[in-house]
Amino acid sequence: MIGCNFSMHINECKIIDFPEFVDSTGSLTFVEGMNHFDFVIHRIYYLTRLTENSIRGGHAHKALYQVVIPISGSFEVCIDDGINSKRVRLTRPNQGLLITPFIWRTLEQFSLNAICLVLASDRYNEDDYIRNYESFRNIVISNSNV
Ligand code: TYD
Repeated sequence: MIGCNFSMHINECKIIDFPEFVDSTGSLTFVEGMNHFDFVIHRIYYLTRLTENSIRGGHAHKALYQVVIPISGSFEVCIDDGINSKRVRLTRPNQGLLITPFIWRTLEQFSLNAICLVLASDRYNEDDYIRNYESFRNIVISNSNV
């Protein structure tokens, strides 16, 4: 498991390419924890029935690593480390975005029939969430000065 800091740079959040096998009958992609990224998958969840106005996320995690994959359609992920932010549009089911701890994220601009699959490094734990942006920013700013 990767080490955990109180502050992470958005550049730690990387696009990961997964193997894809395409032929005339369709396409197959596979994802392996501890191979394509450096954590064991302990939980999978997915977002469906999304609309173009949906905004999901709006939080950071203290220890959780996640990989977000657009297994259908496309959407935008805004990642913010408290100082820098950027938007990444995920459009391919054989690509995922690794999101490290202490990164504020929102998912938005969903296409029609978008499905977002999330692979997570741990089971659900509400105590791992930071759901207030000002609290998040205070934590990362105060720890970036030590
Ligand atoms: P939340 O993480 O806020 O969703 P999103 O980031 O997509 O907006 O979770 C929404 C609700 O679902 C919240 O009440 C917690 C619950 N939940 C679980 O019970 N287990 C899970 O694995 C997840 C991700 C959420």
